[in-house]
Amino acid sequence: MLAMTLRLGPAPSDIETAAALLRAGKLVAFPTETVYGLGANACDATAAAGIFAAKARALNDPLIVHVASSMPDALDGLAELNALSSQQRDWLARLQRTFWPGPLTLVLPRGPRVPLVVSAGQDTVALRMPDHDLALALITRSGLALAAPSANLFGHVSPTTAAHVLADLDGRIDAVIDGGPTRIGVESTVLSLTGDLPVILRPGGVTREQLAQAGIPLGELRHMPHDDAVQPAPGMLSTHYAPRARLTILPDLAALLRAHADRTGRGSRTGALLTSRQAAAAAHIQPRFELGHTPAEAAQRLLAGLRALDDSNVTEILVVRFERVGLGEAIMDRLTRAAAR
Ligand code: TXA
Ligand code: MG
Repeated sequence: MLAMTLRLGPAPSDIETAAALLRAGKLVAFPTETVYGLGANACDATAAAGIFAAKARALNDPLIVHVASSMPDALDGLAELNALSSQQRDWLARLQRTFWPGPLTLVLPRGPRVPLVVSAGQDTVALRMPDHDLALALITRSGLALAAPSANLFGHVSPTTAAHVLADLDGRIDAVIDGGPTRIGVESTVLSLTGDLPVILRPGGVTREQLAQAGIPLGELRHMPHDDAVQPAPGMLSTHYAPRARLTILPDLAALLRAHADRTGRGSRTGALLTSRQAAAAAHIQPRFELGHTPAEAAQRLLAGLRALDDSNVTEILVVRFERVGLGEAIMDRLTRAAAR
């Protein structure tokens, strides 16, 4: 356990400090366009193992490796591209061209430079190129591919600000770079390229519709990740991404208003996540957190909202379900997991 976590800003000298820490095998949290990540040298097994310890993360949950286009042959030695069919290589090239840098993580055959601990013992590796200046500068200045899961305690809500990171990990990591609130707010889409067809393992910042528009066919996930018994990869457990308060998803605003009246009538402190439109029609509901007008705004604010309501000591959080289209799929995925406790 460390005594102090260094607070860094976006200045080039701060990025240099963070890069030096990473080169020395230390743990540095940094912003990406999705959520904050907890980074370490992906090719150093000891450094990567430190991530699992700091997060209290289960060792069978693999990490995402972050790369930048500034690295010559960014995937060299990280992924084993020779193990892919020419069709799979075509999809990979198109996905990289269309969505990198961006919130799309690609699961590929693991290359020899990636230690087993990063991949949780599997023969695959998850790679992504984040669309964030500070993240890319950190990778470039350190000259390292960075293993980085979301920078929260295992099972908790992912952080979208440096304050969220410190609330979970202060004293457990070496440094955090504060780059302000993240732009997208839900984690990357995890897409496996190792089967006959690409398969979405986790919906996220790149939508199913965007993948289809890019001409990427999608297969079905064979083992439902929501079923803990069948698919024990903890990142896909149904009880992930959870606030302390109980979360209840209601079919519409009328049901939410009834549930709120019922709970408060029984003396329980109950808050709500509300879109701006719902908020206008539910002026009496307190505490509340507003999710804005669009699915993109809701995604950007969702995780901060769960943390804010937790901080106001509610025992239950109510929310109306989102339509599972576009970013609504990732929003509903996270809400469903948060509600599954
Ligand atoms: O947006 C994001 O993806 C953020 C930022 C920091 O990049 N990272 C993130 O990492 O959300 P994490 O560790 O919290 O979630 C990674 C997910 C987990 O569900 C994990 O099981 C899956 O990716 N994953 C990682 N490597 C995998 C692999 N080789 N095969 C299948 N799934 C993998
Ligand atoms: Mg996570």
